[in-house]
Amino acid sequence: MAKAMKIAIVDDEMDMRQSISQWLALSGFDTESFATAEEALKRIGPDYPGVVISDVRMPGMDGMAFLKRLMSQDSAMPVIIITGHGDVPMAVEAMRMGAFDFLEKPFNPDKMTELAKRATQKRRLALDARALRRDLSGGAQIMDKLIGASPAMERLREDILDLGQADGHVLIDGETGTGKTLAAHALHAVGARASKPFVLVQCGAYAEEEMAAKLFEGDPDAGLLPLVEQARGGTLCLEDVEALSPNVQARLLTFINDQGAPAETRIVAVSNLQEQGKTSEDALRPDLFYRLAAMRITLPPLRQRGEDILQLFTRFAEQFAEEYGCESPEVGAQEAAQLLQAPWPGNVRQLINVSERAVLQNRRGSGTIASLLMAESDTIEPVMTTEGKPLKEYVEAFERMLIDNTMRRHKGSIVAVMDELCLPRRTLNEKMAKYGLQRSDYL
Ligand SMILES: Nc1ncnc2c1ncn2[C@@H]1O[C@H](COP(=O)(O)OP(=O)(O)OP(=O)(O)O)[C@@H](O)[C@H]1O
Ligand SMILES: [Mg+2]
Repeated sequence: MAKAMKIAIVDDEMDMRQSISQWLALSGFDTESFATAEEALKRIGPDYPGVVISDVRMPGMDGMAFLKRLMSQDSAMPVIIITGHGDVPMAVEAMRMGAFDFLEKPFNPDKMTELAKRATQKRRLALDARALRRDLSGGAQIMDKLIGASPAMERLREDILDLGQADGHVLIDGETGTGKTLAAHALHAVGARASKPFVLVQCGAYAEEEMAAKLFEGDPDAGLLPLVEQARGGTLCLEDVEALSPNVQARLLTFINDQGAPAETRIVAVSNLQEQGKTSEDALRPDLFYRLAAMRITLPPLRQRGEDILQLFTRFAEQFAEEYGCESPEVGAQEAAQLLQAPWPGNVRQLINVSERAVLQNRRGSGTIASLLMAESDTIEPVMTTEGKPLKEYVEAFERMLIDNTMRRHKGSIVAVMDELCLPRRTLNEKMAKYGLQRSDYL
């Protein structure tokens, strides 16, 4: 049998902790107790092999805030909330926030055992499924390349893992430089086809005849197999798919239909039309479109995921700084605001360029990030997005970046970071948990 699931009991009252813990231990559970949510969070990470039982009223972080934090780091974590007798609205609110269930005080021990049993079973299933998915994805490395903690990026990673396991053809679209090609590679790398070929072709780079020949005929004289053959069992990635002529589209459709289901060769079509306000639906023949777009991934533009901008900038700047053997530029409040407000029409690719130039500029000791961004936009207008972001988003993105940078500089020394940012330990811990920053990553 798999390792026993743990039960973390969080309650500021010692008597309560002890009685719950004794009772559950008697029922054969492996328990650990914490007097505060903050302490519990130090132990309970996203893959915690167990479930949580928490009181609501506690000094410091209360049970509801704790629940919220746990849900944001791992939404599959069963959390049982202990509410005061008759506290219905609180119980309702907890359930709405994703609690597994609630127990009313004074609680019925049998009901608690029963709940604990169900919660741990559910947890085990969720963790097993997760581990299986990770095993299947030898593509862990390429997934690591997909930087960004915004909900949109989280969803993208989930989608890639899910669709990676599926067999159907996929259409990837999004603005230029948003990571479509990277996503296509990742989709292949995390799936069962990872050990098979990944063949990529730029559909816009060839004239009609040449394209048809490349795809379906190959070049016997040169000993070249057709691309559909080369990609057999793996993935055929068609970049700029809408550039295919109607004839080639027709032949592609025949190829897809002849393959039957499940498809031996998966087609990942990448479409670049978004920024022209057109869709691949307009450019492809409808029957082909529907075959290709059975599953669809749309990469969000950078300006819609403000949280990621500073993180991406910092990472790229650090990489370039290492490459050029110099310091990466300091990003102050003003620079951060400017980075967040820039429109980024070239998306991540543009951000990479800007971070490289910022590093070079910093090495020369001249220029500012603001001037770089100004030079980027064709207008003399200050760079501003049309889509306003709530103040909270700026503040949080900035706070995350500062803590991340400071942790990095101090190689994970909590004391040094507390000192530099004038933060008490508890606040620092809370903020790190909130932003998904882990000390172990900086050591
Ligand atoms: N989330 C991300 N994290 C880290 N790097 C990223 C991310 N998204 C994109 N990149 C990087 O940004 C650059 C542009 O990405 P990519 O080439 O995949 O975009 P694209 O959408 O295919 O662009 P195009 O429309 O020009 O084909 C690449 O260097 C890629 O590695
Ligand atoms: Mg591309």
